[in-house]
Amino acid sequence: MDFSSRLIQWYDLNGRSLPWRDTRDPYHIWISEIILQQTRMDQGISYYLSFLKTFPDVFHLASATEEQVLRLWQGLGYYSRARNLHQAAREVVELHGGVLPAHSTDLARLKGIGPYTAAAIASMAFGEAIPAVDGNVYRVLSRIFAVDQSIDTSRGKKVFLDLATNLLPEDQPGAFNQALMDFGSMVCKPATPLCYSCIFQHECLARQRGNVKMYPFRSRKARGRERYFYYFLFRTKDHDGLPVFFVQQRTGNDIWRNMYEFPLLESDHALPESELLNHSWWEALGVEAGGLVFSGSAIHQKHQLTHQTIQAWFYQVEITDSSLNILQKHFQLTRPDLFEDLPKPRLVERFYRVVNFC
Ligand code: ADE
Repeated sequence: MDFSSRLIQWYDLNGRSLPWRDTRDPYHIWISEIILQQTRMDQGISYYLSFLKTFPDVFHLASATEEQVLRLWQGLGYYSRARNLHQAAREVVELHGGVLPAHSTDLARLKGIGPYTAAAIASMAFGEAIPAVDGNVYRVLSRIFAVDQSIDTSRGKKVFLDLATNLLPEDQPGAFNQALMDFGSMVCKPATPLCYSCIFQHECLARQRGNVKMYPFRSRKARGRERYFYYFLFRTKDHDGLPVFFVQQRTGNDIWRNMYEFPLLESDHALPESELLNHSWWEALGVEAGGLVFSGSAIHQKHQLTHQTIQAWFYQVEITDSSLNILQKHFQLTRPDLFEDLPKPRLVERFYRVVNFC
C-alpha cells in the first residue's frame, strides 16, 4: 500500500474530530484556517465557535465594524489576521456576491489568504487536488523521505511542494492534507516524535539514519527584533471619586493597529531607571518625570511574536490635576467600564486584569 493510502487510513482511525470537519462550507473552513494560522488547536476551537456564532456567514462579517471583529479576536494575537479577514469578507460580498471563489488561485487573491490557506480551503471545501504545505507537512515529509533541502529557501519550498503534489491522491485531497496536519501534530511532533507508534517507522529514512530531530533543515536562524515597551498607567479620580486613566489607540504600520493601550515609551534597548526618567519622551509630553508618584514597582512581561520579542514594563503613576491637564493633550481619558469594551493587545489585557482600582 502506498504512502497516501496508509496515511489516510491512519487518519480515518486516529484523526481529530474538529468542528469544521463536519462541513464543506468554505466560509467555515476559511475561518478555521485563519484562526489556526498562529493559534493552538484547543484555543482555536473555542474562538472558531464563538466567531461563527457572532458572524454566521460572510454577510454578517462584512457588515461588522473592524472594532467588533477585533474585539472578538481579542486574546488570539496577530490581529492583522482579523483585519485582513474582515476586508476579504467585504471583498467577497462586493465583488463575488457573497460566494467564496472555488479555485485556489482566486482564493489566494483575497487579503490574508496565502498559498497554504488557499490550498487548504480549496482542497477541503471544493475537492481541488492541491497540497496544503505548512510546517507540519515540511516536518513529516522531510523526515520520512530525508529531504535535505532547507524549508526557508524558494528552491527548498519547491522541492517539498513537488513531493507533496506527487503524493497527493486526486480523489481525496482534503483528507490527505488534513491527515498530514494531524499526523504532524499528533505523531511526527517537533521535539518529541512518537517514532515507536509511527506507522512509517520502518520506512522513515531520518529514523534509519538516527537523526529525526535534525529535520526539517533551515538555512538561517530565525532573526528576531527586540523591542522594549515602557507602559505608564497614569491614574487619578474624577469629580465623583471614580477611577480614571489615560489610554491611546495605536496607529501606523505596526503591530496592534487600532487597538488600545496605555501611554507608551518605546526603546530599542533596555533602559536603566535613570535613562527611563530622563528620556526625551517626557520632554515631548511636557511632564517632569522626576516629580511623579509611582505606586509599587513595575510589572514585567515578555511577549513573543513571530519576528519580534517584546519586553514590557508596566508602571502605575498617581497623577495630580496639573499633570492631568498636560496628559489630556496627548492621550484619551477613560474609565474602567469603558476600557473593558475596547480591543486591546493580550499583553495589555493581562496587566490590566491585575490592576486594583479601589
Ligand atoms: N491546522 C490548520 N488547519 C488544520 C486542519 N484543518 N486540521 C488540523 N490542523 C490544522
